[in-house]
Amino acid sequence: MKFLTRKLIKPEDLNANNTLFGGKLLKWIDEEAGIYAMTKLGCAQVVTKFISEIDFVNSASQADVIEIGLQFISIGKSSITFGCEVRNIFTKKSIIKIERIVFVNVDDEGRSKPHGKTLASIKEKATHSSEINN
Ligand SMILES: CC(C)(COP(=O)(O)OP(=O)(O)OC[C@H]1O[C@@H](n2cnc3c(N)ncnc32)[C@H](O)[C@@H]1OP(=O)(O)O)[C@@H](O)C(=O)NCCC(=O)NCCS
Repeated sequence: MKFLTRKLIKPEDLNANNTLFGGKLLKWIDEEAGIYAMTKLGCAQVVTKFISEIDFVNSASQADVIEIGLQFISIGKSSITFGCEVRNIFTKKSIIKIERIVFVNVDDEGRSKPHGKTLASIKEKATHSSEINN
């Protein structure tokens, strides 16, 4: 799991119970994972295709700092799949776990399009940038 973006939880991120609003967290994850898919595939046109079961493990509070972790799982012809965990940066308490988030490379008409990447090319890129299997 590679932990990338950090977020400070502010008043506008809270729900009616004064804990982190789940929709806001999913927005952050979707954006972060989308950027990760673009960098892995070297394509700018990717869309979120599928998000598996979501486990909101623990709540988070205002002033907490959280970090978004992503792990490469698999690559297909037009798709790429990651796992995700978000945790408190200091206590390491888990806040959310998502088994699989799938992104699909699309053409200008929004149809799925082969991205041309393979497991080997992804691994080679990771080795060159010192991030192995992440
Ligand atoms: C993404 C989209 C173009 C894919 O269309 P599609 O007809 O399913 O395309 P394909 O059948 O060619 O499948 C494309 C890839 O998605 C994968 N896929 C399709 N349905 C899937 C599912 N339910 N779960 C996981 N992967 C899935 C396929 O396995 C395929 O992967 P591969 O090429 O690596 O083997 C279409 O579903 C779409 O436009 N969805 C809306 C995307 C969007 O707007 N997202 C933003 C949030 S609303």
